[in-house]
Amino acid sequence: MSRVAVVTGGTRGIGAAISLALKSAGYRVAANYAGNDEAAQAFHAETGIPVFKWDVSSYEACSEGLARIEAELGPIEVLINNAGITRDAMFHKMTPQQWHEVINTNLTGLFNMTHQVWAGMRERSFGRIVNISSINGQKGQMGQANYSAAKAGDLGFTKALAQEGAAKNITVNAICPGYIGTEMVLAIPEKVLNERIIPQIPVGRLGTPDEVARCVVFLVSDDAGFITGSTLSANGGQLFV
Ligand code: CAA
Repeated sequence: MSRVAVVTGGTRGIGAAISLALKSAGYRVAANYAGNDEAAQAFHAETGIPVFKWDVSSYEACSEGLARIEAELGPIEVLINNAGITRDAMFHKMTPQQWHEVINTNLTGLFNMTHQVWAGMRERSFGRIVNISSINGQKGQMGQANYSAAKAGDLGFTKALAQEGAAKNITVNAICPGYIGTEMVLAIPEKVLNERIIPQIPVGRLGTPDEVARCVVFLVSDDAGFITGSTLSANGGQLFV
């Protein structure tokens, strides 16, 4: 029987590419999304991948959503914590709401999701968790004190859990995408993107969602069983860590 994989934020952008790549690799995929019903329904119609709506910043909503998925598809063996938002602002203009929304989704969302599948993975002595962090969690980014803090937190979370999961055959890894051509990146003011960001990427272009998705497929495979607690950078040479 093929493994069940859950991808948060799995109907758009990098998450949609991950959902599709996992499906192509033989997983039974459930794609979570928070708000955009139209995009989710279009994604479902196009791919046949079931979509489940809830907000990862709510522990209770994660609990209910994951219970629905387990009832329909079976125990969750693979979790991809991809859902993320931006509320970019220079720090002197950042509101407490912009801070909390990003921390609640991009950092606490990982706790809310992972905490609920952890006991089952431990019982079955198998699990694969991949957390989608960001280059901006590694290097910091002006205009993103909230996002950089959350994404750096995701890396600490990954390394701590990797140690706890190792004896139970649960691997926990992070991927740090650089600037990928998604709606999130294309929302950056054009002048900033073209004059400040793309010139800093040695390969001279944005990455593609598929280039991140292929990293996920590798990290969740049986071939990657000895890799845990690692951070895989996919950033076009923008930062070496
Ligand atoms: N890199 C370099 N310089 C940047 C920058 C960046 N990412 N973002 C802003 N700046 C510069 C601007 O060019 C500008 O410089 P000048 O005054 O010399 O022209 C200065 O900072 C102030 O910027 P704005 O005039 O745009 O100020 P604002 O208050 O109107 O807006 C902002 C600030 C909301 C942060 C806006 O600049 C912005 O959205 N910047 C992009 C921030 C960013 O990089 N976000 C990443 C989003 S993608 C993502 O998060 C995915 C991922 O994981 C990589």
